[in-house]
Amino acid sequence: MPVQVVEGVGLHYLETGRGAATLCLIHGAGGNTLAWIRQLEGLADMARVVALDLPGHGESAGDGSRQIEDYARIVSGFIRAAGLGKVVLGGHSMGGGIAQTVALENPALCAGLVLVGTGARLRVLPRIFELLASDYAEGCAFITALGFGAAASQALKDGATVAMLGTRPDVAIGDFMACDAFDVMDRVGAICLPALAICGEDDQLTPPKYAEFLAAKIPGARLLLVEQAGHFVQLEQPEIVNAGIRDFLEHSIG
Ligand code: COA
Repeated sequence: MPVQVVEGVGLHYLETGRGAATLCLIHGAGGNTLAWIRQLEGLADMARVVALDLPGHGESAGDGSRQIEDYARIVSGFIRAAGLGKVVLGGHSMGGGIAQTVALENPALCAGLVLVGTGARLRVLPRIFELLASDYAEGCAFITALGFGAAASQALKDGATVAMLGTRPDVAIGDFMACDAFDVMDRVGAICLPALAICGEDDQLTPPKYAEFLAAKIPGARLLLVEQAGHFVQLEQPEIVNAGIRDFLEHSIG
């Protein structure tokens, strides 16, 4: 089980593949590396693909944070400590907020951005906080129910719920607090990196409007809206998402 120590905390990660580009992938609130399982499998023939568990998540040690900036600092530390070189930084949902923050604070670490089911501002429904605090399992089920499109299988939804149930409630609630406070809508235009924004057309947690905003504000950014997919678009329509990332790596990353 590969582990990289960052700021004294052992961070677990999964790694596949090899290629000219290194794709470093960050999961969303309450999640873990398994959010990227289809990209770890499906892109290994053309890139080095690394997905990490943030502190307090999955098999990583430590505690979570209530601030995207803390996670961004840790991801920057991970990229340096693991000797990944310049990475194409991919993030899902909260992970996308972290990726945008790394791109703004430490652009030299990044060759590009893949922003999946995310936005430059990530306000959270009060109902999510109420349920996570009063009945964690019900809160996880509520998020999963909102998070998948109508075409998603029950197995896929169950997998996401199980992943979130495996995260400590205080860590997941802290993640959603971090999302709620996140807002780089005024700054995201300063990102000077090739970027690809991907969003499911039926995403209710970070609707297509958020990805359209990213694509409009980040100079030269591409937009991929995916039919029959919700917030977990990379799990729901992996072939389409992987084809989009593949094309981006081949044509936009030098
Ligand atoms: N990109 C582009 N536009 C955005 C945006 C983003 N990332 N975030 C917000 N906006 C827009 C909204 O669409 C809205 O536009 P409008 O006035 O034309 O309708 C405006 O900015 C203000 O929206 P918001 O900051 O979200 O506040 P709100 O009080 O209107 O709504 C919520 C608050 C929580 C109801 C709403 O943000 C929401 O439904 N969020 C999605 C559900 C959720 O909990 N997601 C979890 C994300 S981790």
